[in-house]
Amino acid sequence: MKVNAIVLAAGRGTRMKSNYPKVIHKLLGKPMIMHVIDNLKKANVSNVISVVGYKADLVEKVVNEESRFVYQEEQLGTGHAIIMAKDILESQEGITIVICGDTPLITSETIEALIDHHLRNENTATILTGILDDALSYGRIVRDSNDNVEKIVEFKDASDEEKEITEFNTGTYIFDNKKLFELIDLIDNNNAQKEYYLTDIISIMHEKNYKVDGCILKDLKETIGINDRRTLAYAQKVLQRKINNQLMDNGVTIVDPKTTYIGSDVQIGIDTIIEPNTKIYGHTTIGENCIIGSSSEIVNSIILDNTQIIYSHIHDCTIKNNVKIGPYARLRQNCIIEDDVNIGNFVELKKTLFGQRSKSAHLSYIGDAIVGDDVNIGCGTITVNYDGKKKHQTIIEDNVFVGCNSNLIAPIKIEADAVIAAGTTVTSDVPSESLAIGRVRQEIKNDFASKFK
Ligand code: UD1
Ligand code: CA
Repeated sequence: MKVNAIVLAAGRGTRMKSNYPKVIHKLLGKPMIMHVIDNLKKANVSNVISVVGYKADLVEKVVNEESRFVYQEEQLGTGHAIIMAKDILESQEGITIVICGDTPLITSETIEALIDHHLRNENTATILTGILDDALSYGRIVRDSNDNVEKIVEFKDASDEEKEITEFNTGTYIFDNKKLFELIDLIDNNNAQKEYYLTDIISIMHEKNYKVDGCILKDLKETIGINDRRTLAYAQKVLQRKINNQLMDNGVTIVDPKTTYIGSDVQIGIDTIIEPNTKIYGHTTIGENCIIGSSSEIVNSIILDNTQIIYSHIHDCTIKNNVKIGPYARLRQNCIIEDDVNIGNFVELKKTLFGQRSKSAHLSYIGDAIVGDDVNIGCGTITVNYDGKKKHQTIIEDNVFVGCNSNLIAPIKIEADAVIAAGTTVTSDVPSESLAIGRVRQEIKNDFASKFK
């Protein structure tokens, strides 16, 4: 069964009061629309088409290759948005899910259940609905005497009696694809908002005796549609609580769930402890028995077992087992840190491979470097990697000792077992087992101090 999806994301989202399209605002580090698309993909929806309009280029950049795009120049209504996908979809067999780009909390499980409900009942259309005593400004579900759905009435078009209906349209649907595109051109804009409503397809299908059904969603929090920044913050809280609870249920200690922000694509192993004020975003995997310490930020990184990261920022790096990092370290751009390493306070590492048991305990910048095993990098060491135009590489082989406050002017190679004297500015390669020393020789002037004072 071919399952397509259309993600409606052409609107500006005026109430966000933003220069950016609503759907690229983020929850837990991930754009709203990517939550929707990833949840579709998790439910095995293969062909995703996003309808974009307002600042479409920004949405396309965020979504990238995860969707195809069709362009809706003027936002004339949700039905009009569907027509934009007609050229791509109309000849295809299978079913099509329609979902809004601003409902990031609808889970893959709900999408799967909706697909299942649709196929099991051999429906032509299935609407994901919710029930609320006061269904606010949502469209109302009107059912006939056989309990089939007869139509959806928009709140602005509803009679007082219809406004009393408690079942509402969440804005997510499944259609038989061919029938959807056969009938979509029949909708008009004779309504309170002068819009082409997708919801009008329901009464059109019902009149043709096609089976239209509602599938009632139990957890109404999933239907939250984000229209303003207060709802964005609220939805993020809902998601945060859910993710943190799942992790705790799976054996992760979260000391203070309220101040711990973990994204939906993060995996963490058992007995790892996450301390307060910590952000873990992107495609990050953390192993077992780690401590991720207060105020750390870890994005798109892999961390293996028994590692501690305290008060540090780690972006796009791999950190292996039994490593200690921080406090106040910064690692970025594809560093690979091997087992049993110690990276201490105020150390920055960029694009660096750092070998087993090596140490850089304090105040250093190591960039564009390959550091071997059992290397000691003294306090204040700097790889001088940039000449103002290009970046150059530093190679430090196994078992090298770099004394404090050394400048390693790249490109440079320090061969195995060499020693760099403290304060040396290294300008040419250092052979294996040798000492490099380059500093002004100290003079002593006896009795000079009293004259000077
Ligand atoms: C829609 C439903 C309503 C339902 C509600 C659930 C219709 C007519 N009504 O109302 O029954 O209860 O969702 O939240 O569909 N969009 C486009 N192009 C357009 C218009 C909208 O891409 O021309 C996108 C918007 O960017 C948004 C989504 O479609 O992501 C929903 O549009 P919106 O105008 O907010 O519909 P509602 O009035 O909320
Ligand atoms: Ca809406």
